Amino acid sequence: MEASAAKRKEPRKALRVKVISMGNAEVGKSCIIKRYCEKRFVPKYLATIGIDYGVTKVQIRDREIKVNIFDMAGHPFFYEVRNEFYRDTQGVLLVYDVGSKDSFEALDSWLAEMRRELGPQGSLDSVVVAVCANKVDAGKLRVVDESEGRLWAESRGFLYWETSAQSGEGIQEMFQNFYSAIVELCENGGKRPAGGSGVGFTREQADAIRRIRASKDSWDVLGLKPGASREEVTRAYRRLAVLLHPDKCPAPGSEDAFKALGSARAALLRNLP
Ligand code: GTP
Ligand code: MG
Repeated sequence: MEASAAKRKEPRKALRVKVISMGNAEVGKSCIIKRYCEKRFVPKYLATIGIDYGVTKVQIRDREIKVNIFDMAGHPFFYEVRNEFYRDTQGVLLVYDVGSKDSFEALDSWLAEMRRELGPQGSLDSVVVAVCANKVDAGKLRVVDESEGRLWAESRGFLYWETSAQSGEGIQEMFQNFYSAIVELCENGGKRPAGGSGVGFTREQADAIRRIRASKDSWDVLGLKPGASREEVTRAYRRLAVLLHPDKCPAPGSEDAFKALGSARAALLRNLP
């Protein structure tokens, strides 16, 4: 009894974790880290050369954590330097600039680069990924909206935060949640807790919404080739309408996608024999 009371009073060992930043050049990775660690913002672009390294201590609930941050250069030129640093990572800050579609579309290739370097034994299931939709301050024209970014992140079980390193918006909250999730992961034996994202929609639903958003015409919306029959139109519509009905699908953008399905079906059936 006494022994267990003494054990309980012992301070828990500090947790050591490794965090890396990923994302295209100039999206604001270094500025996000600087805003959090030094509470300041530098408007001038100083490209990271290879890797910047820093250590910081944070307190999450009753746990002290020592965070080793490896801030990676986004430029393709530095691939050879970066690829050494993917292993033994518990947290990834995956950053894009909401004013740059290219930087958003590059997120998949960043994950692919990490997977490639981790090899067949490695897995992203043992990593907490926080997607930062950065530069949400009014200074820049926004081309990737919140629902699109959130959908991409949450359908993969990642955290999603809207941030501005310039104004500080979202930075504190994002890091706090990110580190909490890393502590949970470590206490769960290095695996992301099952159902941790709790988003309530599937990857299939998220992919269908993304595809519909990017469609060029009504055929595309229903995933059909031009010239498909009335029956094929009706069948494709039914399948997608069941998948994306807003009562059944809480994914961001499901209502617009569902409306687009109805309009596409009506437009096609009007012109089909
Ligand atoms: P690399 O090191 O080359 O991979 O770039 P990076 O992703 O580290 O970008 P960095 O943090 O150096 O920022 C790039 C530019 O974007 C700089 O000019 C920053 O001042 C600017 N910037 C970063 N974050 C924000 C933001 O939230 N809002 C605005 N308006 N500008 C930002
Ligand atoms: Mg940088």
